[in-house]
Amino acid sequence: MSGQLRPDGSLRHLLTLEDLPRALIERLLERAQSLVRPLGERPPVSRALAGCTVANLFTEPSTRTRVSFELAAKRLGADVVNLEVQLSSRVKGESMLDTVYTLQSLHVDALVIRDAEMGVPGTVAANVAAHVSVLSAGEAHVAHPTQGLLDALTVRQHKPNLEAIAIAIVGDIRHSRVARSALHVFRALGVRDVRIVAPPVLMPEPQEFAGCSRHTSLESGLKDADVVMMLRIQKERMAQAELPDADRYYASYGLTPERLALARPDAIVMHPQPMNRGIEIASAVADGPQSVIRDQVRNGVAVRMAVLSEVLAWRSAA
Ligand code: NCD
Repeated sequence: MSGQLRPDGSLRHLLTLEDLPRALIERLLERAQSLVRPLGERPPVSRALAGCTVANLFTEPSTRTRVSFELAAKRLGADVVNLEVQLSSRVKGESMLDTVYTLQSLHVDALVIRDAEMGVPGTVAANVAAHVSVLSAGEAHVAHPTQGLLDALTVRQHKPNLEAIAIAIVGDIRHSRVARSALHVFRALGVRDVRIVAPPVLMPEPQEFAGCSRHTSLESGLKDADVVMMLRIQKERMAQAELPDADRYYASYGLTPERLALARPDAIVMHPQPMNRGIEIASAVADGPQSVIRDQVRNGVAVRMAVLSEVLAWRSAA
């Protein structure tokens, strides 16, 4: 995707991690890492973005992404507005752009957008004024770039030698923006062994996820994996007839302690949440010693602070 970078190579919009330069990804991750603190300690705060305004415009439900974008902006001194967008009156096309123009007139500098329809963040980015940045907080099944960055940060904290590890992404790959953004960032950072594990109906089209090995057996996909990334079944992106039966799914694809034992003994377990305990993951695994699921949430604020600082840096310097 072109148009995310300014002529000087800095980041203006963040819509996808696909084709983002490795050096830029590394810079964002290093900055995010410098902002991570152990729980119990105060997170870093600054006034670097004082006078800037960030608007959250979510037309799909969100807990972690929305709260962490808000906290990230506030911890940098920015003002935040959260728009209550009615899920029933889906905002798109003209009306979405009118909302955006209104926010622009109110001196909003960054728009954080989550939408179930493909292309919305890109359309907004193509229509905003030159000083406004658009950050995708999840676009349909296509991209969730800040999630990809926080996933990469979490992996790196535990497995610094990314070129040598095997990552198994398990579950509803077909409908997952999390899996797509994860693949983009893992590839950029040199991960060689990425496996996708899913029942045939939840596998992506053959032309997607090029270079990944495909496993319909969880056991074969988990073998000696260093990282196991579990995904939620995206019910909202499926017709009723496509929905797998929860018990049968758990029997074949649920991550239980016994199955996790097939991965490496020091493997980490990830999940972007929300989790369906007892469907894709057993509580004993989600809350167990190999789980880094709560670290992912903590890392999410640091990543979003890094991204907001990057896109609004030119403002704070002015
Ligand atoms: C994910 C999303 O919205 O794509 N959640 C998140 O942002 N952490 C994953 C999901 O909904 O399953």
